[in-house]
Amino acid sequence: MDYFAMVARESDGGITLAREQVGEEFLGTGEVTIKVHYSSANYKDLLAITPRGGVVRNYPIVPGIDLTGEVIASESDDFATGDQVVAHGYELGVSRNGGFAEYARVPAEWVVRLDGLSTRDAAAIGTAGFTAAMSVQALLDNGLTPDDGAVLVTGATGGVGTVAVDILSGLGFEVIASTGKTDAGDLLAEIGANEVIGRLPLDPDAKPRPLDKATWASAVDSVGGASLAHVLSRIGYGGAVAASGLTGGADLPTTVLPFILRGVRLLGIDSVFLPIAERRALWTALGKDLRPQHLSTIESLTPITEVNAVLQSIKNGTHSGRTVISVAGEF
Ligand SMILES: NC(=O)c1ccc[n+]([C@@H]2O[C@H](COP(=O)([O-])OP(=O)(O)OC[C@H]3O[C@@H](n4cnc5c(N)ncnc54)[C@H](OP(=O)(O)O)[C@@H]3O)[C@@H](O)[C@H]2O)c1
Repeated sequence: MDYFAMVARESDGGITLAREQVGEEFLGTGEVTIKVHYSSANYKDLLAITPRGGVVRNYPIVPGIDLTGEVIASESDDFATGDQVVAHGYELGVSRNGGFAEYARVPAEWVVRLDGLSTRDAAAIGTAGFTAAMSVQALLDNGLTPDDGAVLVTGATGGVGTVAVDILSGLGFEVIASTGKTDAGDLLAEIGANEVIGRLPLDPDAKPRPLDKATWASAVDSVGGASLAHVLSRIGYGGAVAASGLTGGADLPTTVLPFILRGVRLLGIDSVFLPIAERRALWTALGKDLRPQHLSTIESLTPITEVNAVLQSIKNGTHSGRTVISVAGEF
């Protein structure tokens, strides 16, 4: 069975991503074969085609860290032909061929049957939106309620950020959106932000304070770096920050003071190796209580043949929201 895929290959110190016809050996091993309907563009897909990006060890590879589609063959009792499914994380698109292809074959224990979400909606949520849901769930599990006060979302126009704003506002929280994009106010208000502020710290030249005025009850942070340190210094007593990303840097120049004087908790969020039972439960919640209300505003649709341009927009900082990559029928 030959099929089309976008294949990343190393060449002259760079990495190219181009359409190729590939053979069945590209599918690899696994119990579930999926006809891919959609993938999506994530920051990690950009890293997969970036020299020394640190996520792919061996090329060639088909990137695409998430995919949604229909099961066309299954050797697992848990899945049947015709099931609508999503798979993301684990080795997908980094050490096993991923979603930027007409077909994918994956282990059954990586697959989630969709419940209340279309394959298009699930791709609009994708890895970034699932990470947002994990972050919100971690804050809820820490006891956060709308009565506690405003919740901050950093990197608010990004994939994690937009879906976090949407889910939190749908749950009745007052949401403060921090963004570097000066023209994003209308979009963020439309998806539920009550207030839009700049990137943090607002004055990057000011001397960092280990403890600042308590401003937000909790936060969803996908930026990391000095921004996360600043956010920690402004979380109220007993609050938490769910931290998932590093677009603002991997260093965390903080002190123990927010933790030992205000009982602030730093909650690490990893979507990649989240065990499958928790993953399936959270996807069910995403079709119900945690369902984002404004996916049609957050998402845009791009054919797989234009995925290079979308990844470039993530690189140059002009991308916002979630880009669904349309795969079926697009090669
Ligand atoms: N832990 C996990 O399982 C997991 C899963 C998914 C993603 N992530 C990580 O989470 C982060 C965000 O992913 P994403 O898919 O949401 O990416 P994205 O769509 O590219 O969004 C990232 C956002 O970060 C902000 N940003 C960009 N450069 C920045 C800078 N230099 N300083 C401060 N903010 C900056 C921008 O928002 P504004 O312009 O609105 O400020 C941008 O839209 C990435 O680091 C990604 O690797 C982790």
